[in-house]
Amino acid sequence: MQISVDVQAAAYLVSAVLFILGLKGLTSPATARRGNVLAMVGMIIAIAVTLLSPDVRGYTLIVIGGMVGAVIGIVVALKIRMTAMPQLVAMLHSFVGLAAVLVAVGTYFNRQATGHLDTLLMAELSAGVVIGAITFTGSLVAFGKLQGILSSAPLVFTAQHWLNLALGIATIALAVDFAINNHLFSLYLIILLSFALGVLLIVPIGGADMPVVISMLNSYSGWAAAATGFTLQNELLIVTGALVGFSGAILSYIMCRAMNRAFVSVILGGFGVGEEGEASPMALAAEKGVKAAGVEDAVFWMNNEGARVIVVPGYGMAVAQAQHALKELMELLEERGATVKFAIHPVAGRMPGHMNVLLAEADIPYEHVLEMDEINPEFPTADVALVVGANDVTNPAAKEDPSSSIYGMPILDVYRARQIFFIKRSMRPGYAGVDNLLFYRDNCSMLFGDAKAVCEDLVTALKAG
Ligand code: TAP
Repeated sequence: MQISVDVQAAAYLVSAVLFILGLKGLTSPATARRGNVLAMVGMIIAIAVTLLSPDVRGYTLIVIGGMVGAVIGIVVALKIRMTAMPQLVAMLHSFVGLAAVLVAVGTYFNRQATGHLDTLLMAELSAGVVIGAITFTGSLVAFGKLQGILSSAPLVFTAQHWLNLALGIATIALAVDFAINNHLFSLYLIILLSFALGVLLIVPIGGADMPVVISMLNSYSGWAAAATGFTLQNELLIVTGALVGFSGAILSYIMCRAMNRAFVSVILGGFGVGEEGEASPMALAAEKGVKAAGVEDAVFWMNNEGARVIVVPGYGMAVAQAQHALKELMELLEERGATVKFAIHPVAGRMPGHMNVLLAEADIPYEHVLEMDEINPEFPTADVALVVGANDVTNPAAKEDPSSSIYGMPILDVYRARQIFFIKRSMRPGYAGVDNLLFYRDNCSMLFGDAKAVCEDLVTALKAG
């Protein structure tokens, strides 16, 4: 069965609308599930209609490729740990980039064989190849940094920006030559130079800026898909690519604002050179004048009628999977007349929305979960701030120490609470490698241990008390 061009266009329009509604749904945790379902329905319609298009001449390769991809995708999705999600996203972006390069090269040979090459198409092919190749190698480097295969420290060398500029200009010149003179070697050189540019653009970017890089590469992958859409004259791919391209760019901007980083300086790199968190023994805490407390102390502060408790989850909560124990703690405290709220920093954890997803998984009601701007005014009246495996997002150095690499990043105003209990395993710094000034405050006590174990101990102590 094959469908007419008009039916295909109408179905693509429906898909595009569903994608837009899907993105809209993702703007709030309460509607995110529905948004995902809508986008999935849109994608099913898009794939079905594309497969029934008159352009499809055989199904064997499509079915084999689809099955191989589906098996790999299902296995990876089932096995992936939540904390490794950013790496997975980086890897998926690299696939989009590589696909854009392959489609462009394939289309070139196809059109050359049928004598349908023109300057406009060749310019489109060049754009697709450049964006796709940069996305491919850039995403691989981001994957390597996040997975720990490559050092997350920025790799900076003399005249780096000049080299990138020279490569960029050479790539554009080659693209013009390819579009006008149809020189195949120019196409191959464009691919090689763009691969090199992808690596060179990402290696100087430090670990602390990786979230922005991931969403920036997300944006690139969208533009690569849009360029492929032009090449294949597929309107839906153009629309979808533009949606991904713009939403990735907007997300990058929002994250830069959350970290007080200028987008251009992130792209140019060199941030996050802070020392890698050197393991410090527990004794270091006493040596540094940091107070350690027991769960009974924390329970004493929280187990009161009218006590106001703000929980600040971070990456450590995700690693320890402490969200379920936290839910139980919240319920017990509420039964005893305390109020419990959760404070979410936009870059807590290792991916956008990381904390929201985990708290939702533990069925913590959305109305208890407040974003940074909403919760910050509440810290001065909070009796207890319970920090669970968060670190950088609470560090007053961002406000007080102009020499700190995180200076200027907005933080959760945990230091303003009457008493702070800080759950973590050691005195090691967080992701940015910066010592947390909060530890040395009079109103801060450390609860050393694995976040899940400590939260379970708090639950046990509360039940006993
Ligand atoms: P971090 O500053 O990385 O601090 C996490 C803390 O959790 C660490 O200090 C660690 O201390 C502790 N921890 C680790 N495992 C633990 C466990 N099992 N039990 C208890 N504690 C544990 O995290 P954050 O405050 O959430 O800030 C996020 C950082 O990551 C920011 O610098 C941000 O820029 C960066 N980042 C964010 C993203 C996104 S988009 N969210 C993506 C990549 C990077 P111990 O080792 O002493 O336990």
